[in-house]
Amino acid sequence: MISFDTIVKGFPDKKDYPNTTSLKFKKDLYNYFFDSKFRDVKALEIGSHRGHTTKVMSHLFKEVITMNINPKGNDWIPVNRENIKYIVNDVYNGHPWHTSVSNDVLDDYFYDIEVIFLDGLRGYENVKMDLAQAIQLQPRNKKKYIIIQDYGNTKFDGVKHAVDEVCWWGNMEIVKGIGYPVGTEHGTMKYEDWEAVICRTTY
Ligand SMILES: C[S@@+](CC[C@H](N)C(=O)[O-])C[C@H]1O[C@@H](n2cnc3c(N)ncnc32)[C@H](O)[C@@H]1O
Repeated sequence: MISFDTIVKGFPDKKDYPNTTSLKFKKDLYNYFFDSKFRDVKALEIGSHRGHTTKVMSHLFKEVITMNINPKGNDWIPVNRENIKYIVNDVYNGHPWHTSVSNDVLDDYFYDIEVIFLDGLRGYENVKMDLAQAIQLQPRNKKKYIIIQDYGNTKFDGVKHAVDEVCWWGNMEIVKGIGYPVGTEHGTMKYEDWEAVICRTTY
């Protein structure tokens, strides 16, 4: 098994490159899901950028589906990871995520996803839309882990608002805060709560 340090070798930290998660987020994610019970699990990432976090996920889970509005660029990081499926899709176009792929591959890609990482747009409505879809992924009766990035970032207060609301309704609960802790400040980047939260659906 390749070590965490080897996986993230050369990766920037979020404080220097805000388009990705912090190295602490990646380490916390790795530590939480580095468990044999997650080896055979399928994961989904919304918002891939250059694939820094996608690469870490590909070392934790059997398969990672990642969706982004743009096609992969030449600067895509996890070039040799064969368990990553990259799907070009505008996830906020009002259609369910799975409608971006044809019906014959629908079951393969979108059935039985147990871990979903939300890292697309950060508006309240965007996150609500993401959470609604994540919770409803089939099969609905299987509990899912949903990780939401920039939960405590003061620049995007809609993220926390949406997450707390869905928790209040009883659809999911926060099980762990990860990444930068409350009080972290890097220039204009400020956290009034955890950088990200791992949530678990309640039914
Ligand atoms: C913060 S970056 C993702 C970072 C990545 N998850 C990581 O940890 O390195 C947000 C991504 O969301 C993508 N995005 C923005 N609007 C989108 C949309 N409507 N549909 C799909 N992806 C979108 C952007 O292109 C960008 O790659």
